[in-house]
Amino acid sequence: MAEWTNLSYANVATTSPTAHRISSEWADSLARGGAAEFDGEAEKEGMMPLREAASKLLSCGIDDVCVGSSATELLCSLAWAISPPEGSNVVSSRVAFPSTVYPWARVCESNGAEIRLAGHDDSLYTDPNDILSLIDERTSVVTVSHVEFSNGQRYDLEKLSDAAHSVGALLIVDATQSMGMVPIEAHSTKADAIVSSGYKWLRGTYGAAVGYISPAVVRDLNPGLMGFRSNADLWDLRADRLVLPEDASRFEYTTIHFGAALGLAAAIEELVEIGMEEVWRHDLELVDSLVRGISGMEVEISSPLSEEERSAIVSLRLPSGNSSVDVADRLQSEYSILVTSRSGLLRVSPHIDNSLEDIESLVSALGEILS
Ligand SMILES: Cc1ncc(COP(=O)(O)O)c(C=O)c1O
Repeated sequence: MAEWTNLSYANVATTSPTAHRISSEWADSLARGGAAEFDGEAEKEGMMPLREAASKLLSCGIDDVCVGSSATELLCSLAWAISPPEGSNVVSSRVAFPSTVYPWARVCESNGAEIRLAGHDDSLYTDPNDILSLIDERTSVVTVSHVEFSNGQRYDLEKLSDAAHSVGALLIVDATQSMGMVPIEAHSTKADAIVSSGYKWLRGTYGAAVGYISPAVVRDLNPGLMGFRSNADLWDLRADRLVLPEDASRFEYTTIHFGAALGLAAAIEELVEIGMEEVWRHDLELVDSLVRGISGMEVEISSPLSEEERSAIVSLRLPSGNSSVDVADRLQSEYSILVTSRSGLLRVSPHIDNSLEDIESLVSALGEILS
């Protein structure tokens, strides 16, 4: 089996071995005996380990967490739940990951609401003031990727929340590129909802995602996606009435790959065990080492490096004549190093499984390819 140096957690994690084992064991048990191995009670409780783990990670109540299959799915359900009315607007950034914006664009199109996207400069940098200046009395939602996927820019969520709340709007955060990398205290962000997929910085696998819904708004939200699990007592199967749970679990509406959710729970428990401050320190140490390592090369860093705005995603603009797609391909095929080409940049995104030696290997390989 190939030994990869995965420096691309912004793309897909090398799954936590524990998460992989738990997820595989669940799949094996189902293949052995279906509901004899995973019965109705197990299905009912199937989201709880992940809700518990995420509540520890985000320092919030278990009631404030829901589980879904993907970040995009949870964002779609939220967009229909909030349903920005005719004449209102939704504010985001043009460089945001499409899933951060598309769910709102769909609902806005249906309702006659407007999408407003703050622009960016040549380095894909969005001035946070440009987001703030788009917010007005008609804004119903501000939605951002906490950390931008393309260049790792990180936003001050509290500032955005205050601005949104000052006009009665909600702040909805896509934390897919930050949860598991940046310490997040849900309450301190003042965000109304925070969503993350599981297969990147949280080191789970595909098929599970988590959402935080603030207790201040959860009862006002009628989820956009509904199914048998939407009913508070899920085994009271009657189609002629629906009683939603009072907590965030009202956003859970059907079956999912429970193995992925159980595995993700274990992966998050690992992060909690290490401590998010330590994860963050480690990830930034790797980034600092990369920045030092490439300082002699003709490579430009397209990511903010200030304490307030940086993250463990660093995107590099290569010297002209070098395609980021080709260089990423060569790093993979010749050096077994995984990075990603995004928006014409070479995106490096190391995490806790990486060491300073991994960064040295990348710097050395990049030096050889560019020379
Ligand atoms: C910011 C952001 N949101 C959402 C997604 C997609 O998440 P999911 O596959 O869980 O829908 C990505 C994937 O790259 C992302 O970067």
